[in-house]
Amino acid sequence: MTDSYVAAIDQGTTSSRCIIFDQHGVPVAVDQREHRQILPRPGWVEHDAAEIWATVRAVVTGALARAGLHAGELSALGITNQRETTVLWDRRTGEPVHNAIVWQDTRTVGLCEELGGTEGQDRFRDRTGLPLASYFSGPKVAWLLDQVPGLRARAVAGEIAFGTMDSWLIWNLTGGTDGGVHVTDVTNAGRTMLMNLETLQWDPSILAAMDVPEALLPEIRSSAEVYGNAVGPLAGVPVASALGDQHAAVFGQTCYGVGEAKNTYGTGSFLLLNTGTQPVASQHGLLTTMGYQLGSEPPVYCLEGSIAITGALVQWFRDQLGIISASDDIEPLAASVEDNGGAYIVPAFSGLFAPYWRSDARGVITGLTRFVTKAHLARAVLEATSWQTREVVDAMYQDSGVPITTLKVDGGMTVNNLLMQHQADVLGVPVIRPVVAETTCLGAAYAAGLATGVWSGLDELRAQWKRDKEWSPRMDAGTREREYANWHMAVERSFGWHR
Ligand code: G3P
Repeated sequence: MTDSYVAAIDQGTTSSRCIIFDQHGVPVAVDQREHRQILPRPGWVEHDAAEIWATVRAVVTGALARAGLHAGELSALGITNQRETTVLWDRRTGEPVHNAIVWQDTRTVGLCEELGGTEGQDRFRDRTGLPLASYFSGPKVAWLLDQVPGLRARAVAGEIAFGTMDSWLIWNLTGGTDGGVHVTDVTNAGRTMLMNLETLQWDPSILAAMDVPEALLPEIRSSAEVYGNAVGPLAGVPVASALGDQHAAVFGQTCYGVGEAKNTYGTGSFLLLNTGTQPVASQHGLLTTMGYQLGSEPPVYCLEGSIAITGALVQWFRDQLGIISASDDIEPLAASVEDNGGAYIVPAFSGLFAPYWRSDARGVITGLTRFVTKAHLARAVLEATSWQTREVVDAMYQDSGVPITTLKVDGGMTVNNLLMQHQADVLGVPVIRPVVAETTCLGAAYAAGLATGVWSGLDELRAQWKRDKEWSPRMDAGTREREYANWHMAVERSFGWHR
C-alpha cells in the first residue's frame, strides 16, 4: 500500500494552520500563521479576508515543504474554520467589500433586539436551534447590506457572494473569479441563523424577516464530499470536506455515538454532545446545532454550549494587562499560589453566551482585597474557563437527563495541567485528552479522507483514537459547591451593563 496523505486547513479566529496527516491519522507536518485582529470600536472585531486567504496559502505551502511532499501526493484537502464570521465579496473581482465581521463582534445587538420584536430572542429558534444573538451571521449580513452604500442593490443583482470562512476559502481554492465553486456545508450554514435545521436549506421565512437576498447565498452541501478540485499550488487536489471547527472537533474526537461529548478550548470553548439523527430542542440555554453530515447519509445533530471567551482571557491578561509575556507563563504564575485568594473573573467581553445569552453582560473581577496578587488573578483567569464549562455541563444534563461521565478535551489550553486538573475537580468527572490534540484539523482530514476513500468508515477512525492523558477529580464536594456559589455571585454582577 502506498502512503496516503490528507491535508487539513484550520482557519481559526486568531490564526490559520495547515496540518498534513498520514493514513494512520498521525500529523506529519504543521504550519501556522496569525492574522490581524482589527478592533475599530469597543465590541467590534473584524478580520481582513484577503489577508486570511494569503495566510492560508502560505501555511499550505509551508506544511507541504515541511512534510517534504508535493501537492500531487495529497489524496484530499479538508477545511475547518471559525464559524459565523461573515464575509461578503464581489463575485467579479474576488475582492471583499468590507472587513469580515467576526463572530465575537457585538455591533448587531440592537438589530437582534429589533428582529426579536414582540416574540423576543427565540423568534427563530424552532427553525434554527439558535437564539437571536449578535454571535450569528444572518444579522451581520443584514448590517452590511444596510450600512455599505449601494451593497443591497448589488446583492439583489447577484453581484455579491456571502460566505463564512469555509465558503471564502473553497471559492478561492477552486479558482475564485475563474470558476470557483460557491458552497458551504450544513455545519457552517447552521450557524448563520438562515438555515432550517430540518430541511437543511435556507429558510425563506427567515431570509424575508432579515431582508437577505437569496442571490447572495452559497449552495448548502454535506460536510464530506468533493466540492471541486483545487487550482494553483494545490492543483488537482480534491477539496473534500468542510466543517465548522467545533463540529470538526466532534468528528476528530470520534464522538460518533449518541451521548458522546467533547470540549475544545480555543479562543472560546465549545462543548458539543452528540444527540443522534434528530435535533433536540434545548430548554436550558444550549444551541441545537449540526454535528456533521457525511455525503448522502442522514445528518447527525448536537447540543452545544458555546463559551465566547476562555483562551482569549489568557491573551487579554498577556496583551492588554501585560502581566505575563507569553501565554505559557500563566501556569507557573497561577501555580505559585494555593488558590484564587477569593478573586473571580467573569470574562463577559462579548456579553455572556451559553447558558445565559445576555448581551448586557460585561466583564467583572470580584472578591478583590489587598491580599490578592497577580498570581491569584492568574488562577482566576484559568478558573473562569472551568467554571464556565461547568455551567454548560449542568445545562447539558438538565436538557438531556444524561450525566456526562467523562469529558474528552482538546485544543490549545489542554496543555495547561493546572487548568485541566481544576476542570476535572469542578466537574467531578475525569477529563481525557487524546494523543492527537489537534482534533479540529484531524476531523476535517477524516471527513475529507472518508469522501475520497482514504479511510473505510467510522470504525476505522474510532480505532485510531488514543488516550494521552487523564485528570481525575480531587476536590472535595464541599469546596466545589462553595466555589461554584461564589462563581455564580460573580456572574450575577456581570449583568445589566449598558452598551
Ligand atoms: O463559533 C466560534 C468558533 O467557531 C471559533 O472557534 O477556535 O477559532 O476560537 P476558535
